[in-house]
Formats: sequence, C-alpha cells, structure tokens
Amino acid sequence: MFFSSEAASASFLLPLTARDFLSYACVVAALFFIYINTSFGIIGSACEDIEGWLSEQKSVINFSFAGVSKSSDTLPLRAAANENLAIAFNITNSLTTISPSTHKFFLKTASSIINRSDRDWTVLFETARSTLIAELIRDTSQPLHLAEVTRITCLIVVLVDNFHVPSPASLPRESLVIITDQINDQWLKAKLSTKPVPSPLLSHHLSILQLALRSSDRVLKPEEILGTIMPQYETLWRVVLVTYLLAFHLYSSPTLQDRISSVPECLGTNFDEEKEALKLAKEGLRLTPSNKRIYRHTPAPNSQKVKADLELMHRHPSIWGWSALKFNPSRFDNLTKLQTEAYLPYSIRPHRCPASGGFGDRMVTCLVVAMGRVLDTATGKVDNVGYPCNAERKGVIGTARDELEGWRYTPTVYK
Ligand code: HEM
Repeated sequence: MFFSSEAASASFLLPLTARDFLSYACVVAALFFIYINTSFGIIGSACEDIEGWLSEQKSVINFSFAGVSKSSDTLPLRAAANENLAIAFNITNSLTTISPSTHKFFLKTASSIINRSDRDWTVLFETARSTLIAELIRDTSQPLHLAEVTRITCLIVVLVDNFHVPSPASLPRESLVIITDQINDQWLKAKLSTKPVPSPLLSHHLSILQLALRSSDRVLKPEEILGTIMPQYETLWRVVLVTYLLAFHLYSSPTLQDRISSVPECLGTNFDEEKEALKLAKEGLRLTPSNKRIYRHTPAPNSQKVKADLELMHRHPSIWGWSALKFNPSRFDNLTKLQTEAYLPYSIRPHRCPASGGFGDRMVTCLVVAMGRVLDTATGKVDNVGYPCNAERKGVIGTARDELEGWRYTPTVYK
C-alpha cells in the first residue's frame, strides 16, 4: 500500500510535457466541474428535468395524461387525432376507429399476419432484390429516383407477405407508382388544417390490384386492402430509405458487411447473427421513427390535440449524448436505462404496435439490406438533387417527405 501510493505520488511529480499537462488539466477541470455541479445539484436537476420531460411525453402516448386506459376511452382520443387520415384514405382500422370490437378485429388480423408460421424471409428478400434490379435496369438514361423505388419495393413486399401474391413481377407498375404517390399526397393533405377528400384515383388503382390479391376465398374491397397495408407500408418506406442512405452511403462503417453477412438467412432465427443485423433497423428507427410524433386528443368538452415528440426522445443529447445524431448501430450493444426508456419506435401500452416483437425490425432489415446489396457503393453513388449539401454532410439527413424526394442513385456499373 505504502509503496504504491509513494510510486503514484512520485510519478505525479515527474516533469510534465505540454500534452501531459493538458491531460491533467482536463481531468482536474472535469472533476472540479462534477464536484461543483453535484454539490449544487446542477447535474441532478438536469437529470430530473430530462426524466420529467420524458415521463410527460410518455403520459401522452399511454393516455395517462387523460387518466384513461380502457380501449373504450383511449380509442376516441386517438381516433380524433387521426380523423383526417380516416377521411383521406377512407379507411377503418385500429388507428382510426372508436369501436373496441373493430379495434380487436383489426388487431387480430394484424397479429395473424405478423405471427404467420410459414413466412420465408429469403422469399421476401428475393422479392425485394428482384424488384430493385428490375427498377435499376428499367430506364438507364437517368439516375434512379430512390424514394419512388423504395416505395414500390416496400409496397410489393408488404403485398406479397400479406396476400401471397404468386407472381409479384406481374403487378402493374403504373398502378403501384400511382398508389404510392397517392398515399403520399393524401398523407400530406391529411396533415393540413382543411378537411381532405378521398382520392378516386387511389381507389381506382387499388381495384386494379384486387384480383391479384385474393384473401382466402373473396375479393377484397380497395379500402380493405388499404386499411390492412397502411400501418405496415406507410411505417416502412421512409425508415427503409433513410437507413439505407445512412448505413450504406453516408455512414458506411467497416463493421457493416460483417453485421449483415447472414441476411436474409438469419431473419426469424433469434440467433446472435440476427440480433446483430437487426441493430441496423433499431438505429434507423431511432433516427427516423416512423411516427415522428404521436398525437392524441384531450377529452371533451375542451378537446384539443396534444403530441409526444418521439423524434426528439430518440435524438435528445441529454439522453443519447454527443453522438445523438450519429448513425451507430453498435450503440444498441448496451443502452442505458434512460435510453431504453426513451426508445419507443413501436409506442407503448395500451396501444403498442403488434410488430414490436421483432417483425418490424426484421422487415426493415430485410428491405434495407436488399437495397444495400443491389444499389451499393461499389457500383454507384447517391446524391440529393433538391438539397445538394445533404449528400456531402455526414450525420442525420432531412427526413421530411419533400427532402427525401430528391435522393438519386447514379449507377457507375450496371449489374
Ligand atoms: C417498422 C415497422 C412498424 C413501426 C415502426 C410501427 C409503429 C407503430 C406505432 C408507433 C404504433 C402505435 C400508435 C399509437 O400508439 O397510437 C403502431 C400501432 C399499430 N401497428 Fe405498427 N408499426 C410497424 C409495423 C406494423 C406492421 C407490420 C403491422 C401489421 C402487420 C402493424 C400494425 C399495427 C397496428 C394494428 C397498430 C395498432 C395497435 C393498437 O392500437 O393497439 N404495424 N405501430
């Protein structure tokens, strides 16, 4: 004991180089900062503030702000906030209904899709891959419009998964483009303060798909198709596009290829290889949660819209530190308690998404890796024609719909 402390003080007395001096100075300054802050409760109160803010956000998501938890009370508060979506798309599903029995029925349908035992991820991956290759060679005179291609690919994969489409390549491309464009337009209109109207064009092109999408023994109505696919397709395409751009082009890391080497075979296995691969989706969903904000209404008579800011919860520097805006799937090796509490891409009870048990992460990973393999850095490059600086900038990219429209992939080599 004596020797070690003597040695320690002796080494402290050794002459310091300028760099050593700076290091010591930084450590002393940091210790002093911590001492002052903890003594005066500054760090403590910052933590309490962030925890307080977080629990306020969560109280909106789980309806405790309104003191309700039964579906007969929570559904109207959510449906009121989603009223314009219900009108714009003419759909009834869990997110738009006030009826507990309709909600229960829809949840059962969604769970039966998610928990299907005969799902083959290699087939879904191959569906995405062949769709992307067809898009790549379709018109070689201009760069690939990435948002459009991502939308079509996500829609085809969701349709194949939900409705067992035997030959996805035969789905009419023109209808797929119009359906995905119309969903985008209607979504934007639903966010305005004026009342939207349903789109006859969307309905017409959904009816063109009807025959290809038989559900067991009957032909589905256009609004039934839309009601089923919307919570899946609409949550997928933006996060898939952004994660692809960040992981493969803007933030490519030396560990990426190792992380995804077993995709698609690992999907659905729960093996360690799969857990590593899924961190790609987890980090994508952190930076680009499919629902940036979760809206509710306060109860009548003075009903008004309130929101929880999921995007901010996922990016807040007091929660995620200095690297909050960096794309880094490895952060999911070890989340802090606060980070685990703040990370809610699939919401929380009483209305947590049924895809939260792994299906959502698998779908995102499957689609992102298919994009990365077909539209890779070795054979092409990406840039944003609307926002040129984004392609140069490392870090988080603009995730607003109009910013995403500008991304292009220019092949240098055709496969
Ligand atoms: C990356 C994929 C997905 C994400 C990020 C996501 C996200 C979400 C979120 C945030 C909610 C909760 C909304 C709220 O609290 O009001 C939700 C609800 C829901 N989602 Fe998902 N979702 C995904 C995929 C899916 C898929 C694939 C399905 C169906 C096959 C699905 C079906 C549903 C249903 C039925 C609800 C309503 C649950 C309830 O009200 O109890 N989602 N989703």
